[in-house]
Amino acid sequence: MPVITNIDDLHAIYRRRVPKMFYDYCQSGSWTEQTFRENETDFDKIRLRQRVAVDMEGRSLKTTMVGREVSMPVALAPVGLTGMQHADGEILAAQAAEDFGVPFTLSTMSICSIEDVARKTQAPFWFQLYVMRDEEFVDNLIGRAEAAGCDTLVITLDLQILGQRHKDLKNGLSAPPKLTPATIANLATKVSWGLEMMGTPRRQFGNIVGHAKGVTDTSSLSSWTAEQFDPRLDWGKIRKLRDKWKGKVILKGILDPEDARQALEMGADAIVVSNHGGRQLDGALSSIRMLPEIVEAVGDKIEIHMDGGIRSGQDVLKAVALGARATYIGRAFIYGLGAMGKKGVTHALEVIRKELDTTMALCGEKDIHDVGPHVTLVPKGFRGEWERPASNS
Ligand SMILES: Cc1cc2nc3c(=O)[nH]c(=O)nc-3n(C[C@H](O)[C@H](O)[C@H](O)COP(=O)(O)O)c2cc1C
Repeated sequence: MPVITNIDDLHAIYRRRVPKMFYDYCQSGSWTEQTFRENETDFDKIRLRQRVAVDMEGRSLKTTMVGREVSMPVALAPVGLTGMQHADGEILAAQAAEDFGVPFTLSTMSICSIEDVARKTQAPFWFQLYVMRDEEFVDNLIGRAEAAGCDTLVITLDLQILGQRHKDLKNGLSAPPKLTPATIANLATKVSWGLEMMGTPRRQFGNIVGHAKGVTDTSSLSSWTAEQFDPRLDWGKIRKLRDKWKGKVILKGILDPEDARQALEMGADAIVVSNHGGRQLDGALSSIRMLPEIVEAVGDKIEIHMDGGIRSGQDVLKAVALGARATYIGRAFIYGLGAMGKKGVTHALEVIRKELDTTMALCGEKDIHDVGPHVTLVPKGFRGEWERPASNS
């Protein structure tokens, strides 16, 4: 059993274990991957203030996210195709999150269906919605999430059309993988992944196949998704969805203060400052760099969450210090899941909790609610030497 000391350890095992197609799907950003890289590297620019001679006993990381008690300010982000990273991946990740006391968010594009996850868990999980053109299908999805006991709807706003990720095109990404000579050669080296996958019936998009009109197999699915994401999604439609859903609503994919103000007007319970893990608008600033400006704009009126680039408990602490109530991890939990299933997700959460707890203590704080900008040192100009050019109009 390898000794896991950090998220990189899980990443290394994950890389060896999972087929290239799915590893690449996770480990990419769009186009040049600048935003993907900077989500991580911008965290490194923020430093922490060491404080001493503070009583560190009785520390607490507990907080709430949209009213729900969480054991630390971290949730699992919605990640499509999680069930291809490990057989029954969404179920395993949801169970690990439940045991740990943090929320799990199920993607619309999951392999295990809403009902699969509900059957295998007790705690309500959150459902992430991609808005599709087919309103009947969207209503049906929302109804299924409600019937499954989901109490929070996370509406993703930054993927009306897809940012191109070169590797997915080159690899011919599909679920399940199409058997080309290249994939067969690669799958032959991923024996345990393949055996586990053969042991589960869940190998297609569980929320879609058999539920959306005209989608009965995966070959019709790729054309369906390309046609179905709704490019007309606007604030009017978001308002209608807000009114339709009786529980909490989180708007995900906000990266601009103006959009944050709009989200506030929609009556959302929280926003997620996010650029989709650098997978959509390449060239956008990192989430952590945009966070302070958004906190300044709406932080006293709405709960602010953030994601993008979090690979350690120190990153979580920095995000909380700069004004996020809580964070989400995407790739960090996928590395754990792909490496060793449910146990790996638990490892990822434990690594992050331990790092967060120790770092908070060494910064002289013992309650996560007391963590603020005073624990950080931020380089001059961190918020950006960028300006909005004066408009010609
Ligand atoms: C492989 C992968 C698939 C994703 N699929 C979805 C998705 O289906 N829905 C969604 O709202 N966000 C999706 N995201 C974005 C994540 O929810 C989250 O915003 C991002 O992963 C955060 O960045 P991090 O991976 O650096 O933690 C995906 C991210 C990755 C890496």
